[in-house]
Formats: sequence, structure tokens, C-alpha cells
Amino acid sequence: RINTKKITTGSQALDGLLGGGIETRTMTEFFGEFGSGKTQLCHQLSVNVQLPLEKGGLGGKAVYIDTEGTFRWERIEAMSKAIGLEPDSAMNNIYYMRAINSDHQMAIVDDLQELIGKDPAIKLVIVDSITSHFRAEFPGRENLAVRQQKLNKHLHQLVRLAEMYDLAVIITNQVMARPDMFYGDPTVAVGGHTLYHVPGIRVQLKKSRGNKRIARIVDAPHLPEGEVVFAITEEGVRD
Ligand code: GTP
Ligand code: MG
Repeated sequence: RINTKKITTGSQALDGLLGGGIETRTMTEFFGEFGSGKTQLCHQLSVNVQLPLEKGGLGGKAVYIDTEGTFRWERIEAMSKAIGLEPDSAMNNIYYMRAINSDHQMAIVDDLQELIGKDPAIKLVIVDSITSHFRAEFPGRENLAVRQQKLNKHLHQLVRLAEMYDLAVIITNQVMARPDMFYGDPTVAVGGHTLYHVPGIRVQLKKSRGNKRIARIVDAPHLPEGEVVFAITEEGVRD
């Protein structure tokens, strides 16, 4: 794909699966059950985007939109130290935003264009997780239409930012290990766990033994099929 740049995940195997890393001008979704590594990957990428190009970064900054309150500065500190970045500056290069409900989450994204205009060093926007507020506020089938409409608008706004500013967007989505049990929820619809027909790359994460995790790309004709194993260590995401 032309003119895109890549951010390393910290695992060569996972980078290989992604065709070199997380891509700019694209939205990448990490989905999987609790503890599958979605939030850890978000932390790692908000650090790795800061690396210089020759080390797999973009010499850039990150926006981290936290909807679940699971962001930890100590993790940023440990991960940045582990790859030779100065922890204080690594923390300063992350715009942390806590979204308290879905309206707030959408308002934050509305305002991002202005922030990115002022600080073009921003090369990564993370929303962890994209769905939690929407699920809580618009539960069940009776709210399906309005939830889907709002979520779609939100997702398309994020895709537009990625394309306009040549940055990477990462979203996460918690889905149960057995999505077929949750057919009432369109975000875990039959045949997958689909966040509707929004362009992007979808990566399914699964727990494996100990600190090992399995990643698999879903529905991406231009990327190789198959699974890879990576690890979540004290230092962060590794092979
Ligand atoms: P949900 O948000 O609950 O859906 O889960 P998630 O997919 O975001 O999982 P998350 O990334 O939070 O955690 C994955 C795993 O990372 C955990 O089960 C821990 O094993 C590991 N982990 C989290 N924090 C640390 C840490 O500080 N050190 C180490 N070594 N591992 C950690
Ligand atoms: Mg999480």
C-alpha cells in the first residue's frame, strides 16, 4: 500500500503478520477477550511511535483515549526505559484523555483535528476501547439502531483523521471467546465480531499459555493468512 508508514509492535512476528507493523492512514482494530493483550499493545504502540524511523517508530507523539480507566503511566515508564527512551519525555509525548461516556468520547474525537493541526507530531490515535461506553449506554436490541449509527459516525471520523493526517488509528474491542453466544449484539454478530463495514485491519487476539498471546488477521486479502505468537513481558510486547 502506497505511502503508508509503519510502527513496530515490539514483536517481529506480529510485525510480520501486519506487513511490517501498524500502518498509517489506516484504522487497526485489536479485538479479543479480556486479558488478551489489547491494552498492553496500545501502551506499547504509544511508546513505539516515538522511536526514530530506523528503530521502527515515526519520531511522533500519541493521543491515548482511555474509556475504561485502564491506562497506567507506570507501564509507559517501564516500556520506554526498556527501549532506551527517556521515560519523562516519553510520557510527555502522550496526550492522555479519559472519556467518561460515549458523548464525551465522540466530542474528544471531534476536537482532535484542532489538536493535530497544532501539533503535527501526532502520528498515532488510540481509542481503548471503542465499544465499552456504547455497549453500556445503548444495551440490547432495542437500542441497536441508535448505537450503530453513533458508533459508525465515530469510526468514520477516526478513519478520516487517519487519511487526512497520515497517522495510525488503533481501536480495541472486547469480544467474548464464544461470540456465537452473543448473537444479540451486532458488534459480535454471527460469523465474526464485526464492527460494521468500516475500512481497516482487524486483528484477533487470543490468550495462550502464560504470557503468550496469539494474533490472527481477519478479512484482509492483502495480508498473509495464519497466526503468530507474541509475549507480554515486564518490558512490554516482545517475541
Ligand atoms: P480487557 O481490557 O479486559 O478486555 O483486556 P485486554 O485485552 O486489554 O488485556 P490487557 O492488555 O489489559 O492485559 C493482558 C495481559 O497483560 C494481562 O493479563 C497480564 O498478563 C499482562 N500485563 C498487564 N500489565 C502487566 C505488567 O505490568 N507487567 C507484565 N509483565 N504483564 C502485564
Ligand atoms: Mg483492556
